[in-house]
Amino acid sequence: MSTRPVVIAANWKMHKTRAEALEFAGEYTEWLDAELADAPGHLQVVVAPAYTSLEALVEANPPCGIFAQNMHQASHGPFTGEVSAQMLLDVGAHGVILGHSERRQYFAETNEALADKVSAALNHGLFAMLCVGETLEQRQAGQLEQIVGDQLRIALGSIDIQRALSRLSIAYEPVWAIGTGETATPEQAQLAHEFIRAVLVDVLGHDTAHRIPILYGGSVKPANASELLSQPDIDGALIGGAALDVESFTGIISAGADRARSGAGRLEV
Ligand code: PGA
Repeated sequence: MSTRPVVIAANWKMHKTRAEALEFAGEYTEWLDAELADAPGHLQVVVAPAYTSLEALVEANPPCGIFAQNMHQASHGPFTGEVSAQMLLDVGAHGVILGHSERRQYFAETNEALADKVSAALNHGLFAMLCVGETLEQRQAGQLEQIVGDQLRIALGSIDIQRALSRLSIAYEPVWAIGTGETATPEQAQLAHEFIRAVLVDVLGHDTAHRIPILYGGSVKPANASELLSQPDIDGALIGGAALDVESFTGIISAGADRARSGAGRLEV
């Protein structure tokens, strides 16, 4: 029986020079090779460095996906400071994180722009990891389902379902848990993931929805990763702070490898 992959992803944000990125890769490549050999096919690791380190990391060829943290939806044009899907492919990147709450909050990224970004990424053959999540005020006002539902329905409204099947993942990141040390409880996260899965069924159909990994993000660390990953719809983790350090990142990958070996995430299709 097939399973959804377990995806453990590092979002380095605006951290690490090229030399630091390469040092990190050098320290964990051998360990990761062994861990992946022990969880064949089901464990996927992703590292998303700053644009400036993408090419160096791709060339270092660690056994993981190398993702950008953002991209522009257009192929080229007068968009100072932006980078397109073609440019990411040109440096060998495999995928891109889209719609992180910091992009939404500080760079005014809208659901409508994200619809174009997700389509552009998938149409160019990149993996797309779409981030969704509510703020504390929205959660307290009982708006989680409306906010996260809109984020998903708008951003995924026009994608090619065949492309999404193997290249799309969703990261549920409650904004109040990012970088705060405050984590959603496994039960809170599972409820949100269940809701996300139901929206995916509605938008993409049952079979595709059950194949798409849904990652949890927000203060994930080695001490809470196993518990979060024990939930049926938590298929991985997107990690900021704790992924800057090899020891804590590998600790979380180990928790992901345990989940992959346990055969969790069996497809009900
Ligand atoms: P954090 O960040 O792990 O530092 O909370 C997660 C994220 O922003 O993706």
